Amino acid sequence: MHVIHTQNELIKTLKVLSNIAFVPTMGNLHEGHIKLIQEALKKTKHIVVSIFINPLQFNSKEDFKNYPRTLEKDLSMLKELDVPFVFVPSEEDILDPLQTIEIHLPRIANDLCGKFRPGHFNGVATIVCKLFTLIQPDIAFFGKKDFQQLFLIKALVKQLNYPIEIVEIDTVRDHDGLAKSSRNNLLSHEHRKKAPQLLHQLNAMKEKVIQKTSLFEEIEAHAVRTLNASGWTVDYLSIRSAQSLENPVHDENQIVILGAATLGSVRLIDNIEFCIHD
Ligand code: PAJ
Repeated sequence: MHVIHTQNELIKTLKVLSNIAFVPTMGNLHEGHIKLIQEALKKTKHIVVSIFINPLQFNSKEDFKNYPRTLEKDLSMLKELDVPFVFVPSEEDILDPLQTIEIHLPRIANDLCGKFRPGHFNGVATIVCKLFTLIQPDIAFFGKKDFQQLFLIKALVKQLNYPIEIVEIDTVRDHDGLAKSSRNNLLSHEHRKKAPQLLHQLNAMKEKVIQKTSLFEEIEAHAVRTLNASGWTVDYLSIRSAQSLENPVHDENQIVILGAATLGSVRLIDNIEFCIHD
């Protein structure tokens, strides 16, 4: 396994290769990341996994500081998987101290998670563009766990004409339904036990949407009240069109319900996608 630390070395190494698959991560690898890598391995043996905790996408210095850093463990997991190339750039190498050029993202980037984490998706888009430019992959893998991120990356690739196929991977969950996340390690024992309530609430909302028991706004408000009453701080629980991420139009069939809520100081996100009619 070749661990590459600088962009010069990366460009030199990849220049002679074709058919490159790319899996961007921020490290602290878990089964969710592993699933992405396994799917990439099915397509080609030239896989680049990046590990970079991108300061541009964090809203608070505290959150950035507390993000779990487990590089040695991550590298041994990647070695075990037979990943040939890992790119671990330093901030100095990959970020320009100015970084005043920004991608103008669609309006939806400031809604849902973007409303509560202003600028977050600009930071994601900036680093993903940089990595795409350096790696020039043919195919890249992203998880549906970060549904809004995936939506924006697909728009970015389409609208900026990147010749990259984006593969979407279903959310990998723990035995009790909790979506695997690097942030799960930060939960206290008590909060870890409570954490699947977020998915339970999304599923309860789904049933009400299918049964058409009440207006979407009422379903959302009830779910927010229920989680808040159980000790969570809810950012949003929102019923959207899976196609546009906007509010569903009349007779919309493909729905996604997205949620973000904090337990203690740990912010968790999740979503479920479904069709109202078969
Ligand atoms: P990170 O949170 O490390 O996630 C890296 C990739 O793994 C993302 O595509 C994410 O959606 C996917 N992933 C995370 N948990 C998952 C799960 N439980 N099941 C399936 N896929 C999962 O997302 C980022 O990093 C960053 O924003 C990044 C794209 C690397 C840009 O900095």
